[in-house]
Amino acid sequence: MSYKRTLITSALPYANGPVHIGHLAGVYVPADIYARYLRLRGQEVLFVGGSDEHGVPVTIRARKEGITVQEVVDRYHTLIRDSFKEFGISFDVYSRTTSPTHHKFASDFFRRLYDTGKFIEQTTEQFYDPETGEFLTDRNIRGECPRCHSLGAYGDQCEKCGSALSPDELINPYNAINGNPLQKKATSHWYLPLDQYQSWLEEWILKDHTEWRSNVYGQCKSWLDGGLKPRAVTRDLDWGIPVPVEGAEGKVLYVWFDAPIGYISNTKELCDAHPDKYGQWETWWKDQDTRLIHFIGKDNIVFHCIVFPTMLKAEGSYILPDNVPANEFLNLEGDKISTSRNWAVWLHEYLQDFPGKQDVLRYVLTANAPETKDNDFTWADFQARNNNELVAIYGNFVNRALVLTAKYFANHVPARGTLTDYDRETIGDIQAVRTRIESLLDTFHFREAQKEAMNMARVGNKYLADTEPWKTAKTDMERTGTVLNIALQIAANLRIVFEPFLPFSSSKLGEMLQAGPTEWNQLGSMDLLPEGHALGQVSLLFEKIEDSAIEEQKARLEHIKAENEAKAKEEELLNWQPAAVKADTTIDVFDKVDIRVGTVLDCQPVKKSDRLLCFRIDDGKDGRTILSGIAQSYPDPSVLIGKQVLFIANFPPRKMMGIESQGMILSAVNADGRLTVTTVTAPVKNGAQVG
Ligand code: 2FM
Ligand code: ZN
Repeated sequence: MSYKRTLITSALPYANGPVHIGHLAGVYVPADIYARYLRLRGQEVLFVGGSDEHGVPVTIRARKEGITVQEVVDRYHTLIRDSFKEFGISFDVYSRTTSPTHHKFASDFFRRLYDTGKFIEQTTEQFYDPETGEFLTDRNIRGECPRCHSLGAYGDQCEKCGSALSPDELINPYNAINGNPLQKKATSHWYLPLDQYQSWLEEWILKDHTEWRSNVYGQCKSWLDGGLKPRAVTRDLDWGIPVPVEGAEGKVLYVWFDAPIGYISNTKELCDAHPDKYGQWETWWKDQDTRLIHFIGKDNIVFHCIVFPTMLKAEGSYILPDNVPANEFLNLEGDKISTSRNWAVWLHEYLQDFPGKQDVLRYVLTANAPETKDNDFTWADFQARNNNELVAIYGNFVNRALVLTAKYFANHVPARGTLTDYDRETIGDIQAVRTRIESLLDTFHFREAQKEAMNMARVGNKYLADTEPWKTAKTDMERTGTVLNIALQIAANLRIVFEPFLPFSSSKLGEMLQAGPTEWNQLGSMDLLPEGHALGQVSLLFEKIEDSAIEEQKARLEHIKAENEAKAKEEELLNWQPAAVKADTTIDVFDKVDIRVGTVLDCQPVKKSDRLLCFRIDDGKDGRTILSGIAQSYPDPSVLIGKQVLFIANFPPRKMMGIESQGMILSAVNADGRLTVTTVTAPVKNGAQVG
């Protein structure tokens, strides 16, 4: 070991929503296992976390909820921080990128690179809303998908066909917030010239870090093989850290520039507040004897392996990451976890439904950790791992050892007499776990490492089953005492070996064993509990999870799935246009659209839909029913009754939520972003054609 201390960082989650099992499995549980393991080994460790509070997603959430961005980040920062705490994620510091320390630190960092000529300045044409005077980020631009021609594709992706897009490819791009058409306007930004670092990166990653996980190494290689290009590190936005350069008003640091600097500023915040305990922040970031490890998800690889190291290298005085053990993704019941589709198990909700069962989730997420490929979380597997492994193996073993000791030895550790060959073999098996588990943890194989820990409990269980101390108790108390002594030493070893994985259970087991503080290097010892030591009260380490609890969770997901399907259908209807009118504005096409005037006879919200209104229209003939997705703009739809509206009369009928829609009501976006139906200024005969 050629380093003196380890600095562990875990990706700063966006403060635009709560955290879910995907976050925990991919980043925070493995980082926490690693931090706890090293601490238990007596190493100097600093584990840094925090919330990522800049970027576009938080601003979108604020607009949606009608609150300020600061309110959004305050709310989610607190929720996320508390969830991590509840799950025992043992950060030394959990701060935020809106902190004054971070703003100043990131701003100074930018300025240092700027002053030493590390950036290049480039002017490009970007989409601009002339009415609001804003440049738009990719996510805030929508338009027609050039591939599948669905309407409402985003500037970075079409959610309908899954194509990755750039805003330039969209047909008829518009501002996603207010519907305004967009123009191109020149704007200048600062770029980190990654191309200038290409050969250094090739050497540093492809030659010097062949030990990195193959998914991480492979992604880096493909970026490098593709040839790196300069990357903009500033944006035209009004939320973020202002670019500290004269004349750069209205520009902020790109979120991916400031977020990783958050690791450093959070370290600084902690060290400045507690220098006696944590020392100087520079020791953690600039001393060659510090080893830096970034825990992240696979979508963050390029930023942590290429962009951030280049920033650090350009600055010149920092250490670089030693390893970046990125995980793949965790799916939920076969589908991608999605915040916007509410397809997730949220940590704060899990704790309401399964109070006190933090370790069960930690265990299941590690057992299924997406270390080499995407993996799936299912409630059936959650139940099975709890009932068949935690309860039936680990919990059962500990319980039997303790209950039998209480019964035959008045709850005191019995003496260990002569050992049989089988006893020695068992002890050897227990002792062998340590080297295996260490080499797995040292190389970030948490899933296999946890399996080894459970194997130790398996050895204990088998030992009790084979030696049957409840039988020998009838004839040979010395033998019974020997067996239970060994079983209790195994239980005390389990407490140590599981501490990084299941900290709550280890602390509970510690109380049952009335054992003091422990260290990793005691692992394998058969003298953890001295003869005659009084044990504590026995309780169950894990409890069975009943089918009903699992059924409830599955039903919740079914319900969400049904809601999502209904929403997707609505979306389809709202974005749907027949081929004839697909955004081609020649007069011929316009002529094909039959727009007419009709009077609203009735207008009601559609059951189970928060977007659709059902109109009954007097169209001058037999009348017709039309569905329109404007419910959110009309909290009281009865105000529309009696009004004359414009509708498209010749769309083929479509069925939605069990109702056939025979046309389309025309609406426009008004100044505050709401939809308003279009009408006529003087009474017109129903059915009259508009042209
Ligand atoms: O992907 C994300 O959730 C980002 N907020 C991660 C940032 S990691 C670091 F750079 F701060
Ligand atoms: Zn598409």
